[in-house]
Amino acid sequence: MNIKQNPSGLQANGFTLPLSLSINGKQYDLNIEPRVSLLDALREYIGLTGTKKGCNQGACGACTVLVDGERINSCMTLAVQYQGKEITTVEGLAEDGNLSALQQAFIEHDGFQCGYCTPGQLCSATAMIEEFKNGMPSAVSPDVASEEFEFSEKEIKERMSGNLCRCGAYVGIVEAIQEAFSNKETTVAHETFYL
Ligand code: FES
Ligand code: FES
Repeated sequence: MNIKQNPSGLQANGFTLPLSLSINGKQYDLNIEPRVSLLDALREYIGLTGTKKGCNQGACGACTVLVDGERINSCMTLAVQYQGKEITTVEGLAEDGNLSALQQAFIEHDGFQCGYCTPGQLCSATAMIEEFKNGMPSAVSPDVASEEFEFSEKEIKERMSGNLCRCGAYVGIVEAIQEAFSNKETTVAHETFYL
């Protein structure tokens, strides 16, 4: 993949830094201004345009990617923060050419319409399922120390509330996430999850 050193509209006007980013298992060497967001580095310099720019201010979740497995809004962070980390974008969710269970479930449940929010929804939900399994609290978990708490529709909606869908495909998105979760191991550590 050709890396653009001076993408149109983002010409470097000042100090630039050499930067090496690991994305979807590949290494990318860049020379960019420290002010460039991770989102712009992905889309404009590296050409990974699966990650979308919606609001560019942390409000919509369209730009969600994974860093060492945790979800972040790439529009709100600088690319220079992530040298030495493993970044995963929507282009890296498939394994060995096969869609992930979550990607497949989005297709089967019509979890999208125009698809603009979908890369962010997929990355966010991928990490969210792991957060839930690891006992991370949410605003609707009454007692996360409890031995049993449910991966309910309410939980999913709360935990995915940072990802907006302007097409309103929420019903399919929730169903797809429920299905992907139910296809995973349902007994984790000390907790049994009820679907
Ligand atoms: S584009 Fe990053 S949160 Fe909207
Ligand atoms: S599918 Fe169109 S914004 Fe979500």
